[in-house]
Amino acid sequence: LHTIGRGSLVKCLQKVDTFLHRNIGTNVVAVQEEKNGFKSLYAVHAERQEQAERSVLISCHSRTNEKNFLKYIANYGDIQKYFFYESFGMYAVVEFANQESVASLLEGTAIPSISHESLVPFKSRLLSMRNLDSRDVLNQPSIKKGQAQTSIPINELIQRLSKEESIDQQITSLTEAYQLTEENCRLRFLVCSLLKDIAASFFPECTIMPFGSSVNGFGKLGCDLDMFLDLDGISGKNATMPKSGLFLEYQMKRANFERIVTQNILSVIGECVDQFGPGCVGVQKILNARCPLVRFTHQPSGFQCDLTANNRVAMKSTELLYLYGELDPRVRHLVFTVRCWARAHGITSSIPGAWISNFSLTIMVLFFLQRRSPPIIPTLDHLRDLAGPEDKSVIEDNDCTFVSDFSKIQLESNTETLEQLLCEFFEFYASFCFSKLSINIRKGKEQNKLPAVPLHIQNPFETTLNVSKNVNASQVDRFVALCQESSWLIQQNITAPSRGGTKGNATITPWGVSTLLLPSQVAGIKSRKRRKFEPTSERIKSLLESLKNTNNQPNQS
Ligand code: GTP
Ligand code: MG
Repeated sequence: LHTIGRGSLVKCLQKVDTFLHRNIGTNVVAVQEEKNGFKSLYAVHAERQEQAERSVLISCHSRTNEKNFLKYIANYGDIQKYFFYESFGMYAVVEFANQESVASLLEGTAIPSISHESLVPFKSRLLSMRNLDSRDVLNQPSIKKGQAQTSIPINELIQRLSKEESIDQQITSLTEAYQLTEENCRLRFLVCSLLKDIAASFFPECTIMPFGSSVNGFGKLGCDLDMFLDLDGISGKNATMPKSGLFLEYQMKRANFERIVTQNILSVIGECVDQFGPGCVGVQKILNARCPLVRFTHQPSGFQCDLTANNRVAMKSTELLYLYGELDPRVRHLVFTVRCWARAHGITSSIPGAWISNFSLTIMVLFFLQRRSPPIIPTLDHLRDLAGPEDKSVIEDNDCTFVSDFSKIQLESNTETLEQLLCEFFEFYASFCFSKLSINIRKGKEQNKLPAVPLHIQNPFETTLNVSKNVNASQVDRFVALCQESSWLIQQNITAPSRGGTKGNATITPWGVSTLLLPSQVAGIKSRKRRKFEPTSERIKSLLESLKNTNNQPNQS
């Protein structure tokens, strides 16, 4: 402690904590791939994809006996990892030690025959054990309850946070309750791998990678699964001269624009997902969007999936967000808290519209952390300056270069607590001049903007674009009003109340972060001004009332 100093020790322990959290069950090879305790997103992808290819998804009977189930599956090979979860029914994910075991298991499967119905004979790694001989796996003491793959309802979260003793603990607890679990993460990669099996019918060398919040470190249980069909890895695709001297010509179809090629590919894959994809329902081809996509629900996992192609910039944004989240644990904690707060107040929504998106909100948090003194995270320009030749990346004329070696990044010694940062975040945006200034994480400084645009957040890589172009003025006003209200509210409820009641029956009074998640008492700016003069006791009383009311609200995803 004397040699390295308390600050460094705390940082070191935080890194160990993050590392352990993210690597439960990983193997030694993966650990060796890390530099200074950090693993690049590419290393995470490679490891998870390989795990997913050795895995199968099995629909089980709710009375399946765990021991007998494992004994049965182990007939096909050594099991590396398994878990049960509940979605629409009970499912098991089984990861074998070797891929051959998957093939051997599939060899023995049959396509069921259903009277009065005909089935498409498409074989996949989504299996059913429901019809298995009941003597083998059923009628024994049943398996332990499968894990839910959705986050806890907001009112339950409020209760949980109210029991914590400090705001820092509340924020950490919120992150723990909402972040993707190890199992959910594996399931996301498995769904990508199952989709890849369909796309591989046309493009055997393709990959399907998750991007966005499924992998950038900011994903909440229940968030959508953004997938990227990557055809760039097809050998020879980017080579100017073929090794054999031969070009594939005769089979090639052409189109005038890359966008049309992407639309054509997604149209065909979307059709296949619709016709043959087991468990894929509600398939919609949204091919005229700025970024064409195929949207569907993967029923066995419960994931809402968005499949895109030729979307390399989004992959880079994902990598950048992942890097920022790994640099300092406070980044993820603050993003989770702000995202949760924004969702609770309808600042963000799962329905597309004039709202601020989670992506925009995350950039706003990153920008705020760059504006601290000293800054908690570096600017994107600084990360670009640290990049080596191997990091060079230009996508459609956009410079997407930034350093990938975490060890080159020197962080400044900012020691602000999560409590301070949360309070300051609300202060910062409560008085931010949105009408004149743009948010820019590349420079880490506000830039002037055109007054006609209500909210301008520069796209980090496509710098002429605004990621919050969809947001209207009233949404910005609501955001500012809520920041002002929350800034005031947290100051009033900064300390945990002393617990009343008898042991085990103590009354739980919302305080700190919990109060920020209660329904807002103000719909707009006018009522906010009026409320400032309300006595605190009145305010707490009405908050308690609204906590009771949250029990009647639907769960928020
Ligand atoms: P969730 O709300 O949890 O799904 O967050 P998300 O980060 O996954 O957001 P979303 O599903 O809307 O988008 C997926 C990814 O696409 C983001 O993480 C970004 O990398 C990228 N993305 C989303 N919106 C924009 C945008 O407006 N501009 C750019 N350049 N990229 C975007
Ligand atoms: Mg997403």
